[in-house]
Amino acid sequence: MAREAKKKEHESNSPWKPTRREDLEPKIRNLIKGFIKEIPSLPAHAHKLLDVVSSKESDLLEVAKVASSDPAVVTNIFKAVNSSYYGLSHRTNNLNFAIVLLGFNEVRKIAIQTNFSHALGKSWTYKGYTTRDLWEHSYMVSVCAETFGDSKDPRYSGELLTFGLLHDIGKYVLFKLAMAMQKKGIAPYKSAQASESSNILEREEAIFNINHTIVGSMLAERWNLSEKICSILEYHHYPSYWSIEAIPPEYLKDTAIICFSDLIVRRLTGEEKIPEPSKEYYKMFNAAPSSDNLITDERRIKIEEARKYIDFIQ
Ligand SMILES: [Fe+2]
Ligand SMILES: [Fe+2]
Repeated sequence: MAREAKKKEHESNSPWKPTRREDLEPKIRNLIKGFIKEIPSLPAHAHKLLDVVSSKESDLLEVAKVASSDPAVVTNIFKAVNSSYYGLSHRTNNLNFAIVLLGFNEVRKIAIQTNFSHALGKSWTYKGYTTRDLWEHSYMVSVCAETFGDSKDPRYSGELLTFGLLHDIGKYVLFKLAMAMQKKGIAPYKSAQASESSNILEREEAIFNINHTIVGSMLAERWNLSEKICSILEYHHYPSYWSIEAIPPEYLKDTAIICFSDLIVRRLTGEEKIPEPSKEYYKMFNAAPSSDNLITDERRIKIEEARKYIDFIQ
């Protein structure tokens, strides 16, 4: 297993290190596993959809066919196309027209987002952070990740888009965990030690003794998502804390793309920072250290457009 190949410590400059999956005490791991088991399985059509959006041969009509078998996806397609963003003079009820107008990638995003948020239940707010904030962030990260792909290889862009949309799905598990704790009147674990200046992963660990990367990959496994998706969810913050050798080579490039897309979106939207990866990660993209150097005009414009788009369709 690739995971066992990295027992060694591969440290980067950051003084604080997040807990890794292999560091978890068996007792905590079993507790979390038990909790994740309570989250419903993904519906069969969500798997079908992931297959279709990841297949090289799929075209818009095929995606439309699968997407249209799910009423919640169809509702969201119409919600998007009839929003003021598209400026249609009359509301349309024609699904084929709506799909052509939105385009392949947009339909993919709507279909994936609808399926996963549906499986995870209704929205929550926790300490001022909402599920809507999370989807907005994930949407922008997926748009940014696509720009690292190759326009001649739509399958790869589609994969990057999927990783971007799902990368922080572990935060949903933590939301659910927080709600369950609140319901039972359990005080969050070690909450007194969570300092205002610490970053998101540190605060998660101070509250839950675990972070969203671990629970995200555990949820992806429970949902039988591919090993690639599970691994990228698990490693997506590694570049901020560990050197290149800590990530299995087959997932390194995609993991770095998601990590950098996350940093770029944080930078452009003013979200809180997480540590910058070491220079070896920048070398992979021929850039000098600092995520600013990866903010191209194309990325800036696409993220800005994505932000406006979300405001229109929500
Ligand atoms: Fe994350
Ligand atoms: Fe993120």
